[in-house]
Amino acid sequence: MYRTLKHFSLSLFLFCNFEFNLAQLSTCSGTGCPTNGVWGAWETIGDKACDMECGGCGTLFQTRDCISAPVCNCTGPSNRNIGCNNVACKYPTQKTCCPPFVPMVLNGTQVCGPLPKNIENSACCPQTALMSQWTGWQLQNSQWARTRDCLTVSIGCPCTGQTLTQTQATCPCAQPSNATSACSNLAIATPIYYRQLIINDATGSADLVLIAQNQGAGKIYCKALTDAYGSALGYEGAMLMMQEVSGQCTTDTVFGCAKGTDNARQNATFTCDGSTGNWIYDFTGKQIVGIVQGSWN
Ligand SMILES: *[C@@H]1O[C@H](CO)[C@@H](O)[C@H](O)[C@H]1NC(C)=O
Ligand SMILES: *[C@@H]1O[C@H](CO)[C@@H](O)[C@H](O)[C@H]1NC(C)=O
Ligand SMILES: *[C@@H]1O[C@H](CO)[C@@H](O)[C@H](O)[C@H]1NC(C)=O
Ligand SMILES: *[C@@H]1O[C@H](CO)[C@@H](O)[C@H](O)[C@H]1NC(C)=O
Repeated sequence: MYRTLKHFSLSLFLFCNFEFNLAQLSTCSGTGCPTNGVWGAWETIGDKACDMECGGCGTLFQTRDCISAPVCNCTGPSNRNIGCNNVACKYPTQKTCCPPFVPMVLNGTQVCGPLPKNIENSACCPQTALMSQWTGWQLQNSQWARTRDCLTVSIGCPCTGQTLTQTQATCPCAQPSNATSACSNLAIATPIYYRQLIINDATGSADLVLIAQNQGAGKIYCKALTDAYGSALGYEGAMLMMQEVSGQCTTDTVFGCAKGTDNARQNATFTCDGSTGNWIYDFTGKQIVGIVQGSWN
């Protein structure tokens, strides 16, 4: 019982020594990038069990990330081998400690030191908080939310006073612009009517209400479909013209023009992509930035 307990408290002590210097780093003296950048804590990769029982004779492989890159790039190694189980070996082993460790008393216990540090002595908390980019907006319970991380939390430097989560009721996709200019000069149709999407903030979907009936000379909102499927069914379609992210214009025929009804309307539907802030035209899955209804040429 005594042996077990002693063993336990010793291994706890040694484990803690790899973690304790997470304590308080001081604030960097200068503004701008800290000397050597900001390294994250060393983390053991692969087999985390030490293959030797004492003396720092076993080795663990560790890596660390430069958490301030690419704003502040780091200098120094990003991986290392360290000795593990640094409790001093007891008689009758030949050596008390494996090199480069030497016996020393630390906190009342005989160990093989100096113990490897989890964080460089020179590390400090940057004066300007280092944070990741915002994630895209995501719909959560009819609200839009996005988050970002404080990059230095893992080395004990919180980003005090910084907003890490934002929520809003408004859909993050802005109204598509008037694509009249982008969609001029197409042989198939001429841009004629721009109106805004009717946006449902809580679902991130939107309707574009197209005119689905011919009215007046020179405004051909509806045209009989010429493809095999549409013509077989006798369908007429409205012309939707859209500006893509690349700037190019793309067109789609929206089914369902009315025959003989006044003020007929037909909807094209869109879904907000919170990660890009662009609307996606549901029928093709394409991201669009501009819309306009065309008059068939
Ligand atoms: C950091 O390193 C990356 C990759 O090597 C490089 O593209 C970037 O320009 C560097 N940033 C600075 C601020 O030097
Ligand atoms: C030294 O031991 C004391 C009592 O066990 C403990 O509170 C303290 O954190 C230890 N210090 C280090 C550096 O491990
Ligand atoms: C759309 O753009 C065209 C060309 O710039 C312009 O003539 C038209 O008035 C605009 N439509 C609306 C509703 O803003
Ligand atoms: C078209 O969109 C409007 C506005 O969202 C909506 O009120 C209407 O019910 C929709 N019509 C159809 C046929 O879905």
